[in-house]
Amino acid sequence: MCGIVGYIGPKPSKNIILRGLEALEYRGYDSAGIALVDSKGGQVFKQVGRVNGLTQEVEEEASNAGLAIGHTRWATHGGVTVANAHPQMNSDHSIFVVHNGIIENFDELRQRLEEAGYTFESETDTEVVPQLIDYYLKQLPSFVAAFEATLRDVRGAYSIVAISTAEPETLYAARLSSPLVIGVGEHENFLASDPSAIMDHTKKVIYLEDYDVAVITKDKVDIHNLKEDTHTSPKIELLDYENEKALLGDYPNFMLKEIFEAPAAIRSATLGRAVVEQNMVKLGGLEGVLGQLKYIDRIVIVAMGTSYYAGLVGEYLIEELADIPVEVQLASEFNYRKEPFSRSTALLAISQSGETADTIAALKKVEDYGVLRLGIVNAVGSTIARMTDAGVYCHAGPEKAVASTKAFLAQVTVLLLIALHLNDGRSKRFRPLIEELNELPAKAQAILDHTDEIKAIAEKYADYRDFLFIGRHTGFPAALEGALKVKEISYLHAEGYAAGEMKHGPLAMIDENFPTFAIATDSPLLEKTYSNIQEIKARKGPVLALATRGNKAITKFCSDVIYIPETEPETQSILQVIVMQLFAYYIAIKRDNDVDRPRNLAKSVTVE
Ligand code: F6R
Repeated sequence: MCGIVGYIGPKPSKNIILRGLEALEYRGYDSAGIALVDSKGGQVFKQVGRVNGLTQEVEEEASNAGLAIGHTRWATHGGVTVANAHPQMNSDHSIFVVHNGIIENFDELRQRLEEAGYTFESETDTEVVPQLIDYYLKQLPSFVAAFEATLRDVRGAYSIVAISTAEPETLYAARLSSPLVIGVGEHENFLASDPSAIMDHTKKVIYLEDYDVAVITKDKVDIHNLKEDTHTSPKIELLDYENEKALLGDYPNFMLKEIFEAPAAIRSATLGRAVVEQNMVKLGGLEGVLGQLKYIDRIVIVAMGTSYYAGLVGEYLIEELADIPVEVQLASEFNYRKEPFSRSTALLAISQSGETADTIAALKKVEDYGVLRLGIVNAVGSTIARMTDAGVYCHAGPEKAVASTKAFLAQVTVLLLIALHLNDGRSKRFRPLIEELNELPAKAQAILDHTDEIKAIAEKYADYRDFLFIGRHTGFPAALEGALKVKEISYLHAEGYAAGEMKHGPLAMIDENFPTFAIATDSPLLEKTYSNIQEIKARKGPVLALATRGNKAITKFCSDVIYIPETEPETQSILQVIVMQLFAYYIAIKRDNDVDRPRNLAKSVTVE
């Protein structure tokens, strides 16, 4: 959730760190800080708020030191204050530490250190790390020995980077369940929690694995795995990441840009995979496990948030098209329940970032069960992509806005492809769906071409405090996703419900101040949804319907209607969600909210 960046080399590190932090700010943005070290000593700059609040002071006052670390924070332990911002330090401010994750036993460690005479300046869990390093340095011969002794005491999930005034040429880094990547340069090395922070400088990277401790100088990277007690020779990989795509261009913010990338995201997800001419679905990422896939009789999907809702759409698609029972679980729940799990079950993790802690933990939970672990991941080279036995990349391109948009569309597209792949041409739906997948980008574009109409309707609804989203079949998870988009960027109350549930409770909330966004696109269940709408209207609830173009009848009994192009039932949720993304976006804009960085949230939830 927090962002980490580090540099060691001949250049003044301050600018590299500042630019890196700006690139990482979407991950956490309540405070930021930098520590620099050279032979004259250390300097620290910390600030509550965005990185740009730090820029002027650092540019003017920071030394040209070639060693530095930086951090953008998303608060877990302790409020948003300068004292709680990272880097955290030992008492004499000679050791500087930035940390992403949670140190679960920090209370116990802090007590131990206090008994040994240490005093603390912050409320963070992180501060125990520099203090503990300090403690061990007094007993052990080297910084690395003290760093490793500290890591052995720490329980939790972390990526930690430390520097010390005693060693102005070395970066120390460690990873456990939280991503950290080293960027390899010419007589310089970089470090970051996300490659986007360093990719302007180098495309050569080393991904740290769990329990790795790295000692990094400008010419050397040494990695010691604490668990195996082995020194591995670092494996250098080439970054496959298109930075240009992460630039804003003419858009006012990343969220709008990413919503407008819907056609491209759907196209990239299907490109070379849904081949109409050959009437086939090719998924290279699954080829290595085709033999195993034949024996799969149950799929458990694990994911969080928007990816979970994509999984719920996938449940309908895989069950209906491939005839394999599917269960979708929030990874955070899956991790702490006992359930029978046979080897003919496949676990399918869905994640945009590939770094979500709960989803990673779900994959770890089944590590010893001998089950097939599959992934649908957007971020190439991420932890989940590397942990799974096989998988299919979304290819939606980098998603920077905190609220997930185009990734959902790509996830559902990939789930449909997987359902068709498992169906292997057996169903009558195979051919029409492959054809439709190729038509879908144009239909997504047709919706975007009507953005002004959606904007006008959203603005009309922007002053309500509560929203209900209802749908049936795949429209139900689509409704859940629509409600989530409103919640996270407009901070308004919104709930998603299966339309059939209305009479079982939610209808009690409805009055003239409680509008419903009803997904009422063409389907065999449309008349049933009409009845639900009528019941809402009878209680004076305003209804905004989402209908298929050509449906005039619906205008007679709904306050407003937004149309989407006609599409197959299996692809409807993709088009429905684009409309709801725009609806939520324009409500949030009307309310003057920062849509890219909604309050209290961060991209990539790397702690449980
Ligand atoms: C909502 C959103 C989150 C993520 C969730 C899972 O807009 O972005 O709900 O979907 O945190 O993240 P990933 O997909 O990266 O595992």
